[in-house]
Amino acid sequence: MPSQDELKTMVGQAALHYVVPGEIVGVGTGSTVNKFIDALAGIKDSIRGAVSSSQASTERLRAAGIAVFDSNAVETLSVYVDGADEIDAHGYMIKGGGAALTREKIVAAQSRRFVCIADESKLVHTLGAFALPVEIIPMAGARIMRQFAALGGTARVRMAGDQPLLTDNGQQVLDVSGLRIDDPLAFESRVNQWPGVVTVGVFAHQKAQVCLLGTAAGVTTMEFDAA
Ligand code: 5RP
Repeated sequence: MPSQDELKTMVGQAALHYVVPGEIVGVGTGSTVNKFIDALAGIKDSIRGAVSSSQASTERLRAAGIAVFDSNAVETLSVYVDGADEIDAHGYMIKGGGAALTREKIVAAQSRRFVCIADESKLVHTLGAFALPVEIIPMAGARIMRQFAALGGTARVRMAGDQPLLTDNGQQVLDVSGLRIDDPLAFESRVNQWPGVVTVGVFAHQKAQVCLLGTAAGVTTMEFDAA
């Protein structure tokens, strides 16, 4: 039985299949994506570079000798490769465990195809067991927490030591437990309308088209219909 780390390495390498030679690739954030970046380093001369979804991924890409472009300098990316905290059978995801959800959604939105790479522990029937990350403007925090409470959730400010964690955008993250997200498209649209929400970690409008799932039997490819 491969370890979780080995499963992440397998899917990170498998994602190279979706990288288009000569183009710029969208790169997500997290421990699984780090395996993809390591694999990408081996073919770096065949791509132009990357658009990155976080300072952490930017540093790792540059250390591997891969050029990092500003997202504004690139109109469309053919592929975006990123991990997930949960993914369901439609390609809807919860993301943001690494606090990079806003930039992840931005790069996903400029990409024609989202390839999710994940180990099999991330595949769920219904989203919500993983506490939902939500990036917020701090002055709206108390009200947004009450709005989640009205939906049956319990929101906590994510901490880094004894201070609220700050994202690459200088904002805070709430982690909301106790939700069951039966309709991810409607849920994402609803929470997006709450003033002070920067990004909700439900990726339904920017869902995956493909998931490479690391299993004990190897890499399983899941393909999803349009949203
Ligand atoms: C970061 C993310 C990550 O993709 C998600 O948390 C999965 O991370 P990992 O591959 O480390 O399990 O959304 O904001």
